[in-house]
Amino acid sequence: MTYATDFQQLGTSQLKHVSTQKPLSARKAGPLKGRVRVPGDKSISHRALIFGALATGTTRIRGLLEAEDVINTAKAVTALGAPAGKRGDVWEVKGRGVGGLRQPQGTLDFGNSGTGTRLMMGVVAGHPMTVAMTGDASLSRRPMRRVLAPLLEMGLEVLEPGKDTLPLTLRGTTELMPIVYRLPVPSAQVKSAVLIAGLHAAGKTTVIEREATRDHTERMLRHFGATVVAEAKGEETHISVDGDAELSGKDIVVPGDPSSAAFLAAAALIVPDSDVTIEGVLINPTRTGLYATLQEMGGDVVFENVRDEGGEPVADIRVRASRLKGVRVPAARAPSMIDEYPVLAAISAFAEGQTRMDGLAELKVKESDRLQATAAGLAANGATVRVEADTLIVEGAGGLKGAGIVATHLDHRIAMAFLTAGLASDAPVIVDDSTMIATSFPEFRPIMERLGARFEEDQR
Ligand code: S3P
Repeated sequence: MTYATDFQQLGTSQLKHVSTQKPLSARKAGPLKGRVRVPGDKSISHRALIFGALATGTTRIRGLLEAEDVINTAKAVTALGAPAGKRGDVWEVKGRGVGGLRQPQGTLDFGNSGTGTRLMMGVVAGHPMTVAMTGDASLSRRPMRRVLAPLLEMGLEVLEPGKDTLPLTLRGTTELMPIVYRLPVPSAQVKSAVLIAGLHAAGKTTVIEREATRDHTERMLRHFGATVVAEAKGEETHISVDGDAELSGKDIVVPGDPSSAAFLAAAALIVPDSDVTIEGVLINPTRTGLYATLQEMGGDVVFENVRDEGGEPVADIRVRASRLKGVRVPAARAPSMIDEYPVLAAISAFAEGQTRMDGLAELKVKESDRLQATAAGLAANGATVRVEADTLIVEGAGGLKGAGIVATHLDHRIAMAFLTAGLASDAPVIVDDSTMIATSFPEFRPIMERLGARFEEDQR
């Protein structure tokens, strides 16, 4: 088994993006047809590597997402003494047990990934080591205080006190205190960081959430042998993890990523006469808000062959081109589709009537300010769109003019959302950079092209 060399091979294709932007345009396509699979879920992939590192014994992962964000997490766990690498089709992590990781030699670079960074902060908190963390320009603008605040309460030290953004140097401890923490923002990343730190603490750590956020950490920690209990109390859910935990290495199968499948589904709805089936997609209810919304818009979206795979519900999603109507998307649905608003907004231009999306404050602190970036991209392509506080309103006109250039701001989902819209717009839609797509969905272009999509490198 080759660990480091695998990373080097994977690493050469993911050099820094900033220097070489690659504009790409999408133009009107014929019907999209076919059955395809999308790569593994990003959230589950990060967690499988991290929990594998914290378990004793070997964890084997099938279907791991081999995209830059996840590869950076694989490199990080390797640097922390839990080598992760690929044998045949299967990724393996040689775990060191809860509290058994060691001080890395250099700085951990998380690239574009908020999830990798924030979950790993929970890991570092429980180890007596000093770890420097860094990321790209997008990640270095994103708020870290939301994770550091509860971890500081538990005993983590930050060597740059008061600083909210990467680069940061953290010092963990073997003496973490368990806490009860009410999430001030609906964030699965914050919840997960606290629960991961809680594995190391002496006693029970509880996170209280009002809005249900994705629960992959809870599900997978149980699978690895931790005691995790979720109790509904009134409007809230109290999620507790027992400290001094022992995890043991497991086999994991990563289902297809519903956030990547979202672009294919959206494209199939707006390109006339399309009929696309995306096989083996995760349909955990904390992730399917987009699909419910598309159905409410009149979209022909059907979950077929629903089954359970490795503790998560999975389906083949069949989508046929449909006439869409504008809808109101309630704020309460935001956590279950937080990464899907750019593509929903982009295809709302093709609906008849207004689509109003409420409760989007969290969109402002993603890989870019997605509220502004989405509105600007739509406006540049001739749509009528406005932002009112945390609400995005798109006036659907049954189509999109196109011909605009979309500023992607180092944000993979902004790039994919507008390339999706361009497949049915009157004139091509151009995104100023497509390289960031590799952070979550490197196969986006070939998979879309296999279905019948048309993209062109922009020659300007
Ligand atoms: C993720 C949680 C979400 C999501 C991100 C992945 C996770 O972020 O936007 O892409 O894997 O926990 P927040 O939990 O901060 O909203």
